[in-house]
Amino acid sequence: MSSYNAQYKIPREKVFKVQETSEQGDVAEPTPLLIEGQGTYIFKASQRFSDCVGEPVLPIQPLRIAFRTSDLSTNQETDPDSNGELFYLDIDSETTRLNVEGAIVESNTFGIVQSDYAFYWISLDVRNVDKENNYVSIRFGRGEARFETQVFCYQKNMPKTKGFWHISQVLVSHSVQPMRLLRDPVVGEVPLVVKNTDTLTMEDVAANRVMPKAALSTEGQKLYDIVAGQNFVLDTPDFPAFSDAIKHSIETETGWCYKTLKDKSGEFGSDSKAVYLRITLGNAGGESPGIPFVMEIWPPQCHSPIHQHAGANAIIRVLSGEINVLLFPFLANETVTPNSTDRSVNVVPFAKASFVKDEVTWISPLLNQTHKLQNNAAIGGKPCITIQCYMYDEADSGHYPFFDFVYDDGTIDQFIPNSDMNFIQFKETMKKEWDESGKMV
Ligand SMILES: [Fe+2]
Repeated sequence: MSSYNAQYKIPREKVFKVQETSEQGDVAEPTPLLIEGQGTYIFKASQRFSDCVGEPVLPIQPLRIAFRTSDLSTNQETDPDSNGELFYLDIDSETTRLNVEGAIVESNTFGIVQSDYAFYWISLDVRNVDKENNYVSIRFGRGEARFETQVFCYQKNMPKTKGFWHISQVLVSHSVQPMRLLRDPVVGEVPLVVKNTDTLTMEDVAANRVMPKAALSTEGQKLYDIVAGQNFVLDTPDFPAFSDAIKHSIETETGWCYKTLKDKSGEFGSDSKAVYLRITLGNAGGESPGIPFVMEIWPPQCHSPIHQHAGANAIIRVLSGEINVLLFPFLANETVTPNSTDRSVNVVPFAKASFVKDEVTWISPLLNQTHKLQNNAAIGGKPCITIQCYMYDEADSGHYPFFDFVYDDGTIDQFIPNSDMNFIQFKETMKKEWDESGKMV
C-alpha cells in the first residue's frame, strides 16, 4: 500500500516543437504523462497534404498512439507478456479504432483528414471507484481538445490490478506529429461567456455555464481587465450618439463607413457580405498579431470568413448590437451538407452562440481558436460593434503574425491584421458626419 507522496511544480502542459518527434534515430522514445493516469495528447499527421492538390490520392500513413505503464510489474499479474501497453488508437485512411487490452472497443468510419490544418486528441481519465476498482474514461476527438468535438468515448470499471491507474507514457508511430500534452483530461463542455468575481453566481459554477475570469490564462485575464470596465464604452458624455453615428455612416452613401465597406468588399473572396471594419486603438507592441486592440464593426447580414487567431489569447466584448459566433474544430471550409459522406475537407461548427452588449467571450491558443463571426440583424437593424484584443502566450516564441482564413472557394490564405483607421481619427470623423447630418440624439 502506497502512502501520500505528492510532487509539486507539475506543469499544465508540454508543448512540442514542430520539428520534435518521438524518435531519436530509429528508436521511438515515449513521452511521460504529466500525471499518471490522466492527460490529453494532441497530435496531427506528420505527412503533409498541401502539396497533393490535383494529384492522385497519396498513400496515407496510418497513425498509432499507444498508452502504457513504465512499471511492467503493474499488469503482469493478468498479462505476463505485456510490454506495459494497455490501449492504443489507430487512425488510417478509412477508419479510427480504439483497442483496449487487445480488443477493438470503439471505432469510427472516418480516418485521417487530408488537411494540414486537421488535428486530433485522445484523453485519458482514471478515477477511483472504490479500493479495488478504477473508472477508466478514454475519449477521442478531431480538432480542438474539448468535449464538443468528441467522436467517441469508452468508459468502463476496471480492477486496479489492470494497471490503468499507473499509465505513465505515450508512445506514437513515426507518422504522428505531436503537438501538445495537456496535464488534464477532457471532461466537460467549455463555457463561452466570461464573468468576473463580482457577477459570478453559485448557479453559474454549478451549471458550468460561465467561464470565470480567474480561470482564463494570465494573458486572457490581462486583456479582460483592460476592456471589461464600466467606462470602456462607445457612447460617452462627449459623444453620446457615437453608436448611432456609426449606423448612420454605414447607411449613408456619403458616409466614411459606407464608402470604406464598399472599397473592402471582395477582400475575402466573391461574397460581398464577407466584410467588416477594423478600427485600431493604440499601437502594436510586439505581443500580438497586429495592433492588440481592434474595434470591429459588423453591418447587418455581414460576416467574417472562417479564420483562426495566430494561436493567441483574445477577449471579445460586445459594445453595441449582437454578434453571432460559430466555432469550428479546425480551419477548413464549412460544409454545405452536414452528415454528408463526402470526404473532402469540410467541417461543421460544433457550437453556435450569440453575445449581446457588454457580454464578453474568449479565445485561447487551444480553445475557441477557429471561428466565424456574423451579424444576423436584418438590413436596417443595428450594426454589431465589438472590441477585440489579442496577446500571445508568454511562452509563445513563434509569434505567428497572420490570421489564416478560408476563402469562399475553400482555399486557405493568410490575413494580415490591418487597420482601416485609428480610433481617435474615427471618432472625430463620425462626430463630424453626425453633426453635419443635423440629427439629434
Ligand atoms: Fe476572429
